[in-house]
Amino acid sequence: MKTSAEIVAQVNTRPEKDLPFDVHTIRQDFPILQQKICGRPLVYFDNAASSQKPKQVVDAITHLYYEDYSNIHRGVHTLSERSTRAYEEVRRKVQQFIHAREDREIVFVRGTTEAINLVAHSFGQIAVGEGDEILITALEHHSNIVPWQLLCEAKKARLRVAPINDEGDVELDAFEKLISDRTKLVAVTHVSNALGTVNPVAKMIQIAHQQNVPVLLDGAQAVPHMKVDVQELDCDFYSFSGHKLFGPTGVGVLYGKAKLLESMPPYQGGGEMITSVTFEKSTFNKIPFKFEAGTPDIAGVIGLGAAIDYVNHIGLDKIAAYEHELLNYAKQKVATIPGVRFLGNAREQASLLSFLLDDVHPHDIGTILDQEGIAIRAGHHCAQPVMDRYGVSATARASFAFYNTKEEVDALVDGLRKVREVFG
Ligand SMILES: Cc1ncc(COP(=O)(O)O)c(C=O)c1O
Repeated sequence: MKTSAEIVAQVNTRPEKDLPFDVHTIRQDFPILQQKICGRPLVYFDNAASSQKPKQVVDAITHLYYEDYSNIHRGVHTLSERSTRAYEEVRRKVQQFIHAREDREIVFVRGTTEAINLVAHSFGQIAVGEGDEILITALEHHSNIVPWQLLCEAKKARLRVAPINDEGDVELDAFEKLISDRTKLVAVTHVSNALGTVNPVAKMIQIAHQQNVPVLLDGAQAVPHMKVDVQELDCDFYSFSGHKLFGPTGVGVLYGKAKLLESMPPYQGGGEMITSVTFEKSTFNKIPFKFEAGTPDIAGVIGLGAAIDYVNHIGLDKIAAYEHELLNYAKQKVATIPGVRFLGNAREQASLLSFLLDDVHPHDIGTILDQEGIAIRAGHHCAQPVMDRYGVSATARASFAFYNTKEEVDALVDGLRKVREVFG
């Protein structure tokens, strides 16, 4: 593993005046960021767990409930028509956001976890049998491990894991060798929530497709930070959560190629997903409604639409450039603290720093930083196998969004110096 000094040597940062947008103006849209915690200005560095919501998202939800709210699709009255129109407009917005070919390829779900479980149950039911294999990587979040374990157990199939190197990059040769005619699906995270590794997913998809194996991407940590084009990537499934994209909790997206979604059986049964029901037999709605049983999170979807508008308004290219700067700056500054060790130094990294500080337990780091008004995450980040890979049980993780600033990084560095003082 590289030392902090070596990591620092490979980064440099631009002065604030050259940054691609005015972060202080943007911060006005986030009332929650204006407060003090323990008498200090809040520094919110827990964006990988969930990000904060701009006023525009809250206003869109309020507007729906004040003016337009009703259940969708089934009503003939004005409010139902308004709600339905707004809900379906967001489907088209998501389609454009991830550059899907058709809006019927967008399924609204509760979040990334539900999206992956949907594919594991439904695609798994028709495509996976005894002796078959699912290939994941050693970088995955638990929600891209456990659904496949459950599937493999039920089907007597086998879960294979492509290894990562010390830097936190997937070993592509090993990945390729693990794909065979037994492999029925490759499921890979686009960006690691534990190390920040940006996987070379286009290359991985190409490798898998050469052997006719479909690929699911877990985009939970990617969509808030970079442009995603599912057609260009040619992934077969893509999943993400609204709450990490400055939208509400309880809503997320599964993208699937229409042909695949059409071939898959329903995931849950109930209202909306049927065309007819008798006690003898039910017939099912077309996609995407086949996968949206019951009343969905209507307000959540509307809020997600507003979040996408908000992010589009700033521009994902600008966001990516700004966060790149911020991450480099944070790496440089945090590395100046004696005893800091970063986990992961992948070829391409996004949005977060995972680190240890001497022998101080990450929970203690998190607690002391909280007293300084700084919110970070401490723990295994729902990626225990990643922790095992590095022989640790937890890390401290500072994760960034476009509303964070270099001054906030400076506050983190001061806070970490305090941690060192306390633990002498
Ligand atoms: C990489 C990754 N995948 C999946 C998830 C699960 O997302 P959710 O809890 O919104 O379903 C997360 C959440 O932290 C994540 O970081």
